[in-house]
Amino acid sequence: MIRDALQSVIQESSGPDLPARDEHIAPAPRISIQAFCESVETAAAVQAAGEDRRMGKAHLKIQMGGMVAASEAYRGAPTPNVIILEFEQRPEVILAGLDSLAEVCDPGTRVIVIGHHNDVVLYRELVRRGVSDYLIAPVTTIDVVRAVCGLYSAPDAKPVGRILAVVGAKGGVGASTIAHNVAWSIARDLALDSVVTDLDLAFGTAGLDYNQDPPQGIADAVFSPERIDTNFVDRLLSKCSDNLSLLAAPATLDRVYDFGAEAFDAIFDSLRATVPSIVLDVPHQWTGWTQRTLLAADDILIVASPDLANLRNAKNLIDYLKANRVNDHRPFYVLNQVGVPKRPEIKAADFAKALDDDPAAIIPFEPQIFGTAANNGQMIAEVASNHKVAETFRQLAQQLTGRTEVKKSRAGLLSPLLQRFRKKPA
Ligand SMILES: Nc1ncnc2c1ncn2[C@@H]1O[C@H](COP(=O)(O)OP(=O)(O)OP(=O)(O)O)[C@@H](O)[C@H]1O
Ligand SMILES: [Mg+2]
Repeated sequence: MIRDALQSVIQESSGPDLPARDEHIAPAPRISIQAFCESVETAAAVQAAGEDRRMGKAHLKIQMGGMVAASEAYRGAPTPNVIILEFEQRPEVILAGLDSLAEVCDPGTRVIVIGHHNDVVLYRELVRRGVSDYLIAPVTTIDVVRAVCGLYSAPDAKPVGRILAVVGAKGGVGASTIAHNVAWSIARDLALDSVVTDLDLAFGTAGLDYNQDPPQGIADAVFSPERIDTNFVDRLLSKCSDNLSLLAAPATLDRVYDFGAEAFDAIFDSLRATVPSIVLDVPHQWTGWTQRTLLAADDILIVASPDLANLRNAKNLIDYLKANRVNDHRPFYVLNQVGVPKRPEIKAADFAKALDDDPAAIIPFEPQIFGTAANNGQMIAEVASNHKVAETFRQLAQQLTGRTEVKKSRAGLLSPLLQRFRKKPA
């Protein structure tokens, strides 16, 4: 049965044009966008961009007909926040069209032009006319996402945080422990301000793991949605170390924690506005809000221990998330608690084959140091700084924040080659 399951899941993944790992495209705010396309290829790319998670809040309308349709539309109507205009014509026609559009454009409306000419003179003239961006066709989905989101996250705009969601393929596999240790390492080793958000409101352990017992936390925000803004959320954070704060779970049972799908949106938006790195400790559940949280994250880490149920669940999660986040890097996964004495386990190589990807890390079962850390309210690096598990958390922190390439081991150098063989049909 295992063999069948493994055989049936190996897939070829050619993948679309993805942003580079260290490129962070911040989500666009609630803006209105109207696109006037001339070619179906561009219309399709813009349409797909509208479905990207980063454009989830924006309202996008697409029409064919290019400049002619745009002039028609704005003769009597106000212009939206962003106009995307495609021109198949020569540069002179583009400039004349933009001049006539300028007469009806409301102040504050940004214009992105998609043209078919790679021409410096044209580009200069576009800049002079205040065009925000010029994309050369054919454009990819991510080109459009990058251009639109880039309008609202220019270098002088506020830094926008990146969300890493960590979730277990099963309960109890160590997802929280890994989330807390990775966040701690992001804060200490990469000196990035980080917030751990404990989304396991009833049973979360972040407070215990960081030896904190704050009087306030995430419950105060999620149960008072009308009060949420950056300052309010800031006051709910408890400081764990120089660069690390915690938005703690109450871990009390006097109320129940049933939430609507969008319950955490405003909290995540507030954190994103002020904190560069947000690590979400997502409980092992499949509800409207956990699904939405994973779909909207910048990066996802799935923690699995090496048995069949974990393999099946990790596979289902990865397939679902890949299918619904086509312009994003696929979720990472780590194998945890590997090598429990006498326990039969599925090998890492079989996981890699079934999930068509190598694990970001393999963490051994080390009850002594994990148990000591958990019971003392400390991190692994505090209990055993030189242990190889502490080094693994440092490497994960780098890899998951897209900071630096992780040092390649010899196995790492060989793996692209191995992957090529693996992908060959049997
Ligand atoms: N590699 C490891 N070796 C030994 N023990 C580990 C390892 N990783 C985690 N643990 C221990 O496993 C237990 C469960 O970990 P943790 O609470 O992080 O899991 P979880 O997936 O978040 O669970 P839950 O589903 O309850 O949220 C903890 O006691 C933790 O210290
Ligand atoms: Mg947990």
